[in-house]
Amino acid sequence: EEASSAAGPLAGRRVVVTAGGTREALDPVRYLGNRSSGRQGVALAEAALAAGAEVHLIAGIVETELPAAGPRLSLEHVESARELQQAVAAQAPSADVLLMAAAVADFRPADYAAAKIKKTDDVDAPTITLTRNPDILAETVRARPARGGPTVIVGFAAETGDGATDPLELAQTKLLRKGCELLVLNRVGEGLVFGRDSTEIHVLASFGVQGVLGDVEPAHVVGTKREAADAVVDRAARLLVAAGG
Ligand code: CTP
Ligand code: CA
Repeated sequence: EEASSAAGPLAGRRVVVTAGGTREALDPVRYLGNRSSGRQGVALAEAALAAGAEVHLIAGIVETELPAAGPRLSLEHVESARELQQAVAAQAPSADVLLMAAAVADFRPADYAAAKIKKTDDVDAPTITLTRNPDILAETVRARPARGGPTVIVGFAAETGDGATDPLELAQTKLLRKGCELLVLNRVGEGLVFGRDSTEIHVLASFGVQGVLGDVEPAHVVGTKREAADAVVDRAARLLVAAGG
């Protein structure tokens, strides 16, 4: 199938999807990791392909099979948050939509040991000092006016809530903080979502795009990851049409 012959609401559009977790190396054989199967990201890539888009999938560490590259799907592999940051920075200027489904490690070991850390006769265990990773999503939003880039930026947040705070409230605050157009809240806890095909999401729209989306239903999806992905992609497509770009 030729890229130009694709039909659908995202035909001729470029969608960048990040999926999976990151690994932050401590030494050549050890890392800190983030748990993420990558399935939601893969479902998003498939949903965008089905909507006619040209898709670039940036995969971190995943526990699922990735789709095969094709005329409208390219793949790239990254490991650390900083590799992901570079990959997103390279892709963002030419993307219409960024779907930031990757679970990015918030911290990495402050120092990388070039040689494997050995036990010593010292009985004490070493202390690992961490440092903050860049916030790739927030950075992409901030860089957009100067660098150009996705008209529609979508963040994803897995929230458990903490008993006192409702996950929806946490997600609303996160949406404001990140500055992206949409934030997809994934309710997690009790082993409900990680690694499963069923999911429950809420799609929150920033104040700036709420009017454009109106009351597109359903903003709340309980179903397969693909069904959730279709709802997200549908909203992204509507926002692009409204932006007229
Ligand atoms: N994200 C990112 N870079 C980071 C951390 C997160 O781009 N260093 C993106 C994720 O890919 C996701 C969104 O930000 O799309 C929300 O991630 P989340 O971990 O929920 O947000 P944080 O700002 O890291 O907040 P928290 O302290 O709740 O983890
Ligand atoms: Ca985080």
